Amino acid sequence: MRVFLTGHRGYIGAHLLQLLKEEGHIVIGCDLDLYASSRRGILIDPDLDLRQDVRSLVPQDLAGCDCVMHLAALSNDPMGELDPALTQKVNIEGSVHLARISKKAGVPRFLFSSSCSIYGQGASLDLDEKAPLNPQSAYARSKIEAEKGIALLASPDFSPVYLRNATAFGDSPMLRLDLVVNNLLACVLTKGEIRLQSDGTPWRPLIHVKDIARAFIAFLHAPRLLVHNLAVNIGSNQQNVQVREIAQKISARYPEAKIVFTGETGFDPRNYRVRFDKLSSLLPNFQLEMPLDYGIDEMARSFSSFPSLSREEFEGGKFVRLSVLKKRVSLFA
Ligand SMILES: NC(=O)c1ccc[n+]([C@@H]2O[C@H](COP(=O)([O-])OP(=O)(O)OC[C@H]3O[C@@H](n4cnc5c(N)ncnc54)[C@H](O)[C@@H]3O)[C@@H](O)[C@H]2O)c1
Repeated sequence: MRVFLTGHRGYIGAHLLQLLKEEGHIVIGCDLDLYASSRRGILIDPDLDLRQDVRSLVPQDLAGCDCVMHLAALSNDPMGELDPALTQKVNIEGSVHLARISKKAGVPRFLFSSSCSIYGQGASLDLDEKAPLNPQSAYARSKIEAEKGIALLASPDFSPVYLRNATAFGDSPMLRLDLVVNNLLACVLTKGEIRLQSDGTPWRPLIHVKDIARAFIAFLHAPRLLVHNLAVNIGSNQQNVQVREIAQKISARYPEAKIVFTGETGFDPRNYRVRFDKLSSLLPNFQLEMPLDYGIDEMARSFSSFPSLSREEFEGGKFVRLSVLKKRVSLFA
C-alpha cells in the first residue's frame, strides 16, 4: 500500500515508519523535523521525505495514497500551555486541513493520533470511549476539537479513525524524556534519584511506543465497516498504573536510589484510568507485546550503553519536547 505518514521524525513515528517499511509499504513522510537534535539512534528514510508543515500540504501531495496516518502535532501538555494559539493552529486546524485534502485526494482511510489525555480528570475511574471528556490542558482540548472537526468529513468514501493512545514509554531513535516512565528512569540513571513531581497517586494508562506503532498498522488493515469514524482507546486494561507504582518498580531495580517528592506540580489534575475493551473486541488478534517491565529493561540497557545518557543531556532538556520547541518556535511563524 501507499501510506502518507506525518510525524515520521518523531518518537512514535520513527517506529511506525520502520514497521511500515518492514511490511513492504511505500511511505511518504511529512515532518518539519523539529527535534532533529533529539536523535539517539538509527533512523530510516521514507520513500519520499517532505520537510514541510502539514498545513502547507495540497491534495496533489496525497494522490494515490491508501491511507494517511497523522501523527505530526505539538505533542504534550506543557507545550500546549506555552502557546495555546499555536497548539490550536497546528493540532486542530492542521489536522482538519489534512483530513479535508485527504478526502479531496480520494484517500479512503485517515488514522488520527489522538490521546487518552482527553479524559483528563476522570469523574470516575475506568473510562471507556463513551465517558465524558474532561480535558485539563490546551493540548487535550486540541485533540478533542480535531476529532470533532475530522468527524464532520466522514463519508462512505472517507473513513477517519481516532486512535486515543495511552501514554507511551520505551526507547526510540527519536527519544523523549518528558514521558513519565522514561523520565523517572533517566533520572535514576543520570542523577541517582527518583523524582516525583506529584504525590504519585494519579493513574495513567501506559503503552510501549512500538505497540502504538503496531496499532496503527492493525487499523490500516482492519475492515472499513468495523472502524469507520470510530474512536478507540489504544492500550491495555492491565497497564493502568499509578505513578508511584512506576517509581516503586524502578526503585526495586535501583534500591540505592532516593525517592524524592519535589511537589513541583502539587495536585496533578490529570488522573485517568482507562478501559480498552473496545480495542480487544474490535481487533481480537491485536495484543500488546511489550509490557512495562520490558520497556524499563530495554531503556536501562540503551541509556547505559555507549554513548550512555549523560546528566548534562538529561538536565539540559535535549530530549524534552518543550525545551527544544522553545528554541524552534520561529519555524512556525
Ligand atoms: N507519545 C505519547 O505518549 C503520545 C500519547 C498519546 C498521543 N500521542 C500523539 O501521537 C503523535 C506523535 O507523538 P510523539 O510522541 O511521536 O510526538 P513527537 O513530538 O515526538 O513527534 C511529533 C513530530 O511531528 C512533527 N511536527 C510537529 N508539528 C508539525 C507540523 N506542523 N508539520 C509537520 N511536522 C510537524 C515534529 O517535528 C515531530 O517530529 C502526536 O500527535 C501526539 O499528540 C502521543
